[in-house]
Amino acid sequence: MTRHTPIIPVDPHHPDADAIRQAAAVLRDGGLVAFPTETVYGLGANALDAEAIAGIYRAKGRPANNPLIAHISTVAELARVAVDIPERAHQLAAAFWPGALTLVLKRHPQVPGSVSLGRDTIAVRLPSHPVAHALIEAAGVPVVAPSANRFTRPSATTAQHVLADLDGRVDLILDGGPTPIGVESTVVDLTVDPPIVLRPGGVTFEALREHMPDVQRYSAAVAMDDDSARPASPGMLSKHYSPNASMLLFRGPFEAVTDAMRQTIGDCMQAGQKVGLLLPDAEQPLFANLDVEVVRLGADAAQMARHLFAALRQLDEQGVDCILARIPPAEGLGVTVGDRLLRAAEGQVIDVTDADI
Ligand code: TXA
Ligand code: MG
Repeated sequence: MTRHTPIIPVDPHHPDADAIRQAAAVLRDGGLVAFPTETVYGLGANALDAEAIAGIYRAKGRPANNPLIAHISTVAELARVAVDIPERAHQLAAAFWPGALTLVLKRHPQVPGSVSLGRDTIAVRLPSHPVAHALIEAAGVPVVAPSANRFTRPSATTAQHVLADLDGRVDLILDGGPTPIGVESTVVDLTVDPPIVLRPGGVTFEALREHMPDVQRYSAAVAMDDDSARPASPGMLSKHYSPNASMLLFRGPFEAVTDAMRQTIGDCMQAGQKVGLLLPDAEQPLFANLDVEVVRLGADAAQMARHLFAALRQLDEQGVDCILARIPPAEGLGVTVGDRLLRAAEGQVIDVTDADI
């Protein structure tokens, strides 16, 4: 495909029925449509069409070794993609769907094995975004959709990000504006006992635990790494998105980390490097009057999640040599933001202690 990919603007709350019909027809014909969900943009294909699924991996430039999420538009459709559905799946669906939670269940035999790369499981999500919902409903089939970014790029949270990564490689982009959550869904495996969070995401661990007290926390030892070339091995996060710049992440007591960051900024600048800083709004005054590129992520963890991927793309465009950020406190969406930062830094983090001051 060398031609440019057409973009159709749609109202995110009340998508135009003609635009949705047109996009649904592309999906039914085996094509690829990028569309907004409440988490990130997805790159959709008919989940029951093995050829279309192969097209997704080609378009992303991703090795075919990361299983895909099937998106549905009603809970009843669960029975089309999964079998032996446990009662707790229905409980979680009632609590969190439509929304940013993906359930790993036993795969229905009518779903091609290539969706989950031969595993007997399938990841399923019922998104809440009106455009995603309308598209899946109109397509009349479950829709597999990985995040609509090229392999090794941050997930796309705007149609412009999708275009930058996938122009000419997909058939159509529905532009419903920026995605409200900004990070991908939480993936929880219900085929194991106790259930385990494989990827922290838009639904917090605390919220999940209220409905499923025995759920286990994400651990790098078991999680499959998003967009990676293989499942992560113990203690190691393999390549996800890595900016051209080196990512320097800091973790530890607040004051000590601030001092360590200031020190590192000075060192980098002395070495002639252009420095980028990812900062929560409240921390901006701590780093004022420095000759660095600052991207403000927002006032709280939810806003940081919403802006993180766009911020990483922006700093890449600004050509910084190193990006500094603090790992947020490990609670609520801070866990998810920290996880995505760590993936971008390929697991490298500088642990600062009070003794280092
Ligand atoms: O928010 C999201 O989840 C977005 C939007 C588009 O829905 N999609 C997304 O897809 O992030 P993707 O392909 O980038 O990530 C899918 C995640 C990966 O971490 C993958 O390992 C996990 O879901 N996954 C998919 N199928 C699985 C399975 N059968 N067993 C375990 N993990 C699975
Ligand atoms: Mg992804």
